[in-house]
Amino acid sequence: MRTLIQNGTLVSPTDTFTADLLIEDEKIAAVGTNLHAVYGGKFDQTVDAKGKYVIPGGIDVHTHMDMPFGGTTSADDFESGTIAAAFGGTTTIVDFAIQPQSGPGQFGSLHQGLDIWHEKANGKAVIDYGFHMIVRNVNQDVLREMDQFVNKEGVTSFKLFTAYPGVFYVDDASIFRALRQTGANGGLICMHAENGPVIDVIIEEAKARGETAPAWHALTRPPRLEGEASHRVLALAEVAKVPLYIVHLSAAEALEEVRRARDRGVRAYAETCPQYLYLDHRNYEEPGFAGSKYVMSPPLRMPGNDEHLWRGLQLDDLQCISTDHCPFCMKEKRLGEGDFSKIPNGAPGVETRLYLTYQGVRAGRITLNRWVQLNSAAPAKLFGLQGRKGTLAPGADADVVIWDPEKKHTISAKSHHSKADYSPYEGREVTGAASHVYSRGKLVIDGGSYVGKKGAGQFLKRGTTLA
Ligand code: URP
Ligand code: ZN
Ligand code: ZN
Repeated sequence: MRTLIQNGTLVSPTDTFTADLLIEDEKIAAVGTNLHAVYGGKFDQTVDAKGKYVIPGGIDVHTHMDMPFGGTTSADDFESGTIAAAFGGTTTIVDFAIQPQSGPGQFGSLHQGLDIWHEKANGKAVIDYGFHMIVRNVNQDVLREMDQFVNKEGVTSFKLFTAYPGVFYVDDASIFRALRQTGANGGLICMHAENGPVIDVIIEEAKARGETAPAWHALTRPPRLEGEASHRVLALAEVAKVPLYIVHLSAAEALEEVRRARDRGVRAYAETCPQYLYLDHRNYEEPGFAGSKYVMSPPLRMPGNDEHLWRGLQLDDLQCISTDHCPFCMKEKRLGEGDFSKIPNGAPGVETRLYLTYQGVRAGRITLNRWVQLNSAAPAKLFGLQGRKGTLAPGADADVVIWDPEKKHTISAKSHHSKADYSPYEGREVTGAASHVYSRGKLVIDGGSYVGKKGAGQFLKRGTTLA
């Protein structure tokens, strides 16, 4: 099966050039000029991409499909969530499997958690997917399992939390042990960095005063406590002499700590998410219970914070853009009506990442090449997919997006593909959209219509990071 994409403007992290791209079966076979003649016109399909960008498919390394959380389960399963991703030009997700817990102090193995996630995704995902593993209890068996995950299972990154005491929180000694283990096995620790125990005290104080509104979710999670936890975990990584990746970085205070650690020579990496670039604290003040739509952790920050994040993206203090896609419907959000601390944390985002961040290109905040790097090439490199994903080089998987830079549309829950019944960006007009999306050479989105196949997505055994 041969598909020729002709006359597109190919975009890599370094170059923008006009060329043809040949897909043969599941792989990119050639990039060059005049491929129609070179290959004697023998193609099953030709697509004219004149005036469009041809980019490597987006890689979203932070999603939560079908995840039990906050007394409910995230609204998208691996089918609806990956269809939404594909519509938005994303062809790979890395989702978070969770070490199971059956009661206080009673934890299952990492392998049990991984089996559960394979079951959730297998036969459902329409694009390729990998897993990180959330570790909530570190002991000798778990440390051994971490080695097996890296060496055998293709799960080479682990998320630990300084937040959510009683749910995901682990202490500093556990984090340090896990860091040391990755020093030996080549894995990467990803940290949710907020000081959970102190946040819980502030929540308790707010509730005792009778505060109930969604805005209190943010007001009880001060940015300094994201900065403090970031500083701490970066210092632990420095002493352990290993790289560290901070997930969903939201606050300027945390970014400052990443920058300082990098200046000291720590292999510190971090992602931010579109919600921290395009929404802010004022969203919590929307009338009635609407502020609950934006309840996520870390929370949206005060207006002006986004400027620091854009600067971080420009200067490579932030290396990736992910989404933290963790959608809940309003019925679930209402579990926290009358008690902001019971609002399930998370919001949809997997479909809108490229749309939103492309507005940053249009506004001159990041270059087109940097956009490709942040959304595709850098996540591939940091998460062990280099050479296969995140590149248009011959030999790579044919995960290719034809991006129409002039297509205008309005983001809305009425037209999005997540099962979430609201969009945090409702009514926002954007320019630029994926017109064709190929996953390993198969068309998934054709001119804005879904033509993919449930279960076509494959599990990606990832290698270790190049960090
Ligand atoms: O609010 C969020 N971020 N929900 C998902 C869980 C997490 O911490 O990433
Ligand atoms: Zn998190
Ligand atoms: Zn998350």
